[in-house]
Amino acid sequence: MPGVSRERIGEGTSPIRSRKRRHVNNRSGIGGLINLCYDGDAGKQILFYEGVYDMNVKRVCALYFSPTGGTERIARLVAENLAEKLNLKWKFFDITKPENRRKDYHFREDELVVMASPVYAGRLPNKLMPEYKARIFGEGTPAVPICVFGNRSPDESLRELMILMEDNGFRIVGAAAFAGRHAFSDQVGAGRPDESDLDEMEGFVNKVVHKLTESRTMFLETDHSELGAYYTPLKEDGTPAKFLKARPHTDADKCIRCGLCAEECPLGSIDAETMETVGLCIKCQACVRRCPVHARYFEDADFLSHVAMLEKNYKRRAENIVIV
Ligand SMILES: Cc1cc2nc3c(=O)[nH]c(=O)nc-3n(C[C@H](O)[C@H](O)[C@H](O)COP(=O)(O)O)c2cc1C
Ligand code: SF4
Ligand code: SF4
Repeated sequence: MPGVSRERIGEGTSPIRSRKRRHVNNRSGIGGLINLCYDGDAGKQILFYEGVYDMNVKRVCALYFSPTGGTERIARLVAENLAEKLNLKWKFFDITKPENRRKDYHFREDELVVMASPVYAGRLPNKLMPEYKARIFGEGTPAVPICVFGNRSPDESLRELMILMEDNGFRIVGAAAFAGRHAFSDQVGAGRPDESDLDEMEGFVNKVVHKLTESRTMFLETDHSELGAYYTPLKEDGTPAKFLKARPHTDADKCIRCGLCAEECPLGSIDAETMETVGLCIKCQACVRRCPVHARYFEDADFLSHVAMLEKNYKRRAENIVIV
C-alpha cells in the first residue's frame, strides 16, 4: 500500500498551512496537488501536496448549532446543494437544543458531513467546545467544516473547527467561513447571505463535488499550531466591553407567557415559570430574537456599547473565506 505522499510547494500567512503530517489510515493514497484557494485577506494563497483517497459517499449529513438560525440556513443550503449535485439523500442533525447535545454522533466513512458553527469572539463558542469534542466523531469521514460569522471577522474559528474535526476522525474536503447577519444587530451583516454569497456557496459546492467525484479525492491538512486568543469585544470608545455576566431581561408588560424563550434557550437557562435567566447565558440572542412580542432585552451598558461599536465599524461587507 503506498504511503501518503506530501510535498509543500508554497507558503503564505493563511491560517491553513502545511505541517508535519500525522499518520492517516490511507487505503489508496498517492501524492496529489491540493488546489487551495484562500479568498479571505488579499494575497493569502498557498498550495501544497496532500494524500489522495478513493471516495464512495452514500449520504450527505449536516450537523449544526444555530441559536438564531443563520448557521442552520447556510448549513442546509450547502448540504442540500451537495446532496443534489451528488445525487444523494441528505439528513440534518440540529444540535442547538441541550437534549440533542447530550447524544453522540458517529459518522461513517461513506457519509459526507457538513458541520457548521457560529463564530463567537473569533472562535468556536467556548461553552460548546466540550460537547463538540466529546460527541461528534468520524471514521475517516469526509467533511466540510463551515463557520458562520456576523460580518466582523471569523478570526481563528475556521481553523479551530478544522482542527477539531481532524482530531475527531474526519478528513476535510473543503472548508468555508460565510458571513451572515450578526446576532447582536440587524444592521451588521444586513442582507447576508446575499446573491453574491449564494453564488460563492454554489462555486464552493461545485469544487467540493468535483473533488469527491474525481477518481481519487484529495484532503486538506490543517496547521495545528496554537490558536490565537479569543477576540476581546470593544466598546464605542475602543476599551474592552465586559459583559460576560450580562443576562437578558423580560418586560413583564409585554410578555404573553408563551414559553418560547425557555424552550429555545440552547443552554436551558430560562425559568419557564418566571422567564428569568437563571443559568449560564452565552448571549446567543435566541430568546431575544424568537420572542414573538419582543419582550426580551439586554440592558447591560457594556453590551449595548459593543453593539453600537459593531454598528459603527462593521457595516462594511466582509469577505467570505473558501478553501478547497
Ligand atoms: C456571543 C457572540 C459572539 C459573536 N462574535 C462574533 C465574532 O467574533 N465575529 C463575527 O463576525 N461575528 C460574531 N458573532 C455573530 C455570529 O457569528 C453570527 O451572528 C452567527 O450568524 C450567529 O449564528 P446563528 O444565527 O446560527 O445563531 C457573535 C455572536 C454572538 C452571539
Ligand atoms: S438566555 Fe442567554 S443563552 Fe439563553 S437564549 Fe437568551 S441569550 Fe441565549
Ligand atoms: S418568548 Fe417572549 S412572550 Fe414568550 S414567554 Fe418568553 S418573554 Fe414571554
